[in-house]
Amino acid sequence: METNQEKSVRNILGSRSNVEIKVIPSYHCEMNCSYCYNKYLYNGYRPNYSKLINVVSEIILNNNFNVIIEIIGGEPLSSRNYPKTMKIIEYLPSLKKDVKLVLQTGSRDIKKLLTVIPRVDGLSYSVDLSLLPKAANIKNLEIIARQCEKYNTKLQIQTALTQGDDIESICRFIDLCVSYGVGWLGLGYPVYQRYTRKEMNAQIDIYCKTIKHSRNRPEITIGGAIIESAIDFLNGQTYSSCCMCGENSVTIQPDGSLSPSLYFEPSAFKSVDAFVKVKYRREEQLRKDHCLNCEIWDVCHGGCMGHTKFLTGDIYSYDKEFCYVLCGLIEKLKSVRTKSQAKQENLSL
Ligand SMILES: C[S@@+](CC[C@H](N)C(=O)[O-])C[C@H]1O[C@@H](n2cnc3c(N)ncnc32)[C@H](O)[C@@H]1O
Ligand code: SF4
Ligand code: SF4
Repeated sequence: METNQEKSVRNILGSRSNVEIKVIPSYHCEMNCSYCYNKYLYNGYRPNYSKLINVVSEIILNNNFNVIIEIIGGEPLSSRNYPKTMKIIEYLPSLKKDVKLVLQTGSRDIKKLLTVIPRVDGLSYSVDLSLLPKAANIKNLEIIARQCEKYNTKLQIQTALTQGDDIESICRFIDLCVSYGVGWLGLGYPVYQRYTRKEMNAQIDIYCKTIKHSRNRPEITIGGAIIESAIDFLNGQTYSSCCMCGENSVTIQPDGSLSPSLYFEPSAFKSVDAFVKVKYRREEQLRKDHCLNCEIWDVCHGGCMGHTKFLTGDIYSYDKEFCYVLCGLIEKLKSVRTKSQAKQENLSL
C-alpha cells in the first residue's frame, strides 16, 4: 500500500494501546444540543454511585493494563453531576499509580473548569463553530488553554460541524486552536442523523479541504472518525482507527452496569464477550458480501454497529453513511495527490 508523510492520528494521551473505560456518572444534562446521541440511548439508569465506583475499581485493581478513565455523560460538570464527578476524580487515581483521567465536557462554567483542570491528565473540551449552545464555548478557550498549559493537562477539542460551516471558518478555527497550543482537534458531522447524498458530498469536500489545510499546521493533529480513518489509510496503517468497543474499550453506566460500547445498553448483549463475538461475526459476513475486496477495509471494518443499527435496524449491515463519505473522501484525496504529483513531474521535466 502507498504511504506518505501524513501525520497519524492519536488519542489525547498519545496512545491507542491502553484500555479505555468510559464512565458515565449520569446522563443528566441541561444543554440540549440538537444533535446529541444520548437521546437515542437508553436513558433509564438509576444512578448508583457506590456500585459505579466498585465496578471501575475492580477493573483497575484486578488487571495489569494501563487504564485511561474517560469521564463523560450527560454533562459531568452540570450542577447536579459536579459533586459526583469530583468524587470520582479524587478517588480513582488513589487506587493505582498510572491511572490516567480524562474529562469530556462541554460546560461553560469557567470556575468549575479551572478547578478541575489541575486534577485530570487530559481535558477534552467541546466547542462547536456555529451550533448552539456550544459555539459559545469558543470564548473560554484561551483561559482554558492557559490553565491546561500551567498544569500540564493535555487539551483536546471536539467540534461538531454543521452543513453551514464553511471551509474558511473551519480553517480559522484550526488556526485559533494552534495559537492556543491545542494539540488535537476532532472535527466531524454529528452521527445519528440522516444525511442526503448532496449533504454527504458537501461533507467530503469539507473534509478534503480540512485535511489539506492541516498539512500546513504540523503543530496540531486533526482527528474525528472519518478524518482518522482516511489519514490512517493514506499512511498504510491498519485497524488502529476502527471501533475498539468491547476489545479495549468499555463503558460503565450510571447504575454501575457495564456496556461493551457507548452506543449499546448493557442488556443488548449477554456479556462483553458476546458483543465481541457478534462484532466478529458481522465482520466475517461483511467480508463475504458488501465489503468483499474493499481496499479500505482495514480502516473501516464496516463502520460502527450502533450507527448501522440506527440507520437500518440491522446490526449485521454496514454503516452506509460512513461507507459513502469515507470512500468518497479517500478517492478525492487520492485524485488530489495524483494531480499534484503530475504537476510536480511536469515541473521537473
Ligand atoms: C455526549 S457528549 C457528553 C459530554 C459533554 N456533555 C460534552 O458535550 O462534551 C460527548 C461528546 O459527544 C459529542 N456528540 C454528541 N452527540 C453527537 C453526535 N450525534 N455525533 C457526534 N458527536 C456527538 C459531543 O459534541 C461531545 O463532544
Ligand atoms: S452538552 Fe454534551 S451531553 Fe449535553 S446535550 Fe450537548 S452533547 Fe449532549
Ligand atoms: S468502506 Fe464500505 S465497503 Fe469498504 S469496508 Fe467500509 S463499509 Fe465496507
